[in-house]
Amino acid sequence: MSSTLDFDVRPTTNPAGAEQRAALLVDPGFGRVFTDHMVTIKYAEGKGWYDARLEPYGPISLDPATAALHYGQEIFEGLKVYRHPDGELGLFRPEQNARRFNRSAARLAMPQLPEELFLESIRILVEHDKEWVPSAPETSLYLRPFMFATDPYLGVRPAQEYLYVLIASPVGAYFPRGVEPVSVWLSTDYTRAAPGGTGEAKCAGNYAASLVAQAQAAAQGCDQVVWLDAIEHKYIEEMGGMNLYFILDGDTLVTPELNGSLLPGVTRDSILLLAEEFGLRTEVRRISTDEWRESAASGRMTEAFACGTAAVITPVGHVKSSDGEFTVADGGSGEVTMKLRGKLLDIQHGRTDDTHGWVTRL
Ligand code: COI
Repeated sequence: MSSTLDFDVRPTTNPAGAEQRAALLVDPGFGRVFTDHMVTIKYAEGKGWYDARLEPYGPISLDPATAALHYGQEIFEGLKVYRHPDGELGLFRPEQNARRFNRSAARLAMPQLPEELFLESIRILVEHDKEWVPSAPETSLYLRPFMFATDPYLGVRPAQEYLYVLIASPVGAYFPRGVEPVSVWLSTDYTRAAPGGTGEAKCAGNYAASLVAQAQAAAQGCDQVVWLDAIEHKYIEEMGGMNLYFILDGDTLVTPELNGSLLPGVTRDSILLLAEEFGLRTEVRRISTDEWRESAASGRMTEAFACGTAAVITPVGHVKSSDGEFTVADGGSGEVTMKLRGKLLDIQHGRTDDTHGWVTRL
């Protein structure tokens, strides 16, 4: 299978005007505004990847029997393009997203997309839509690569045809209140993933299954749901679509271990490395809701935060469950959390030396 393809480049004849774009970039919110173009690449068993195109952003016509609409064979990624102070553009660890995309594909019995093709699709889209990368603080161009089964067939089996699509959306903060701490609901009625399930894959079904629990969290007055393990409903897994971190005694960073049912976040992995450089002790292990409650009560837990590409690093201030509620420290944004957040954003936005080789300039 070839790892690169010639792209058929068909730019739009009707791009957004500079004024219209500028108005959309002032306050884009999250995931509502889209750029002028998209990339599509087809796959067929026996033929491999073919028909790579850059084309105007727009609707995709599907047969009502399209397999993904019935059995959910869909995976996706999320990564961002940042405008650096010199006006150049940078991606953060895109090869990690390419690899995770293929791990998700393997779990969902979908074909592998060569890493180079994933990266090339990004280069081509950003080359044509670079004016859409915002420059205001805390903004970026969010990229959403996804792949789904396109066979018009109702039998349950891995599809033989797929479509890979890349779209882009200028974004600001994921949470409406920005970096303000969020409150969370510990879900015991629902679980996100069980051992052997699809928890570590970034697939649509995981998010669909989370919505009722998120609605329950909202009904409890909380911003987000926190998932517990499927067996004992005792150990913390992740928050909504983000990984969780805890700080004990001001100097020890704890995060749940990757056990097959958690998403292996790129931001999660980066924070572990940055924390070590900051001289924090790091512990990757199981952490129970009892430990969370007791360490918050005793004052040992000084901070908690969630992280992900979309949300960056967001403090967790208040925790509620069917057993009661508690606040982490003073419920505000902790010092270590904000220090890690600042460092991560400085690297991503090109404001500090990229000593890890994490940034790919476009
Ligand atoms: C991300 O952080 O990129 C995510 O995928 C979370 C969510 C927007 C689905």
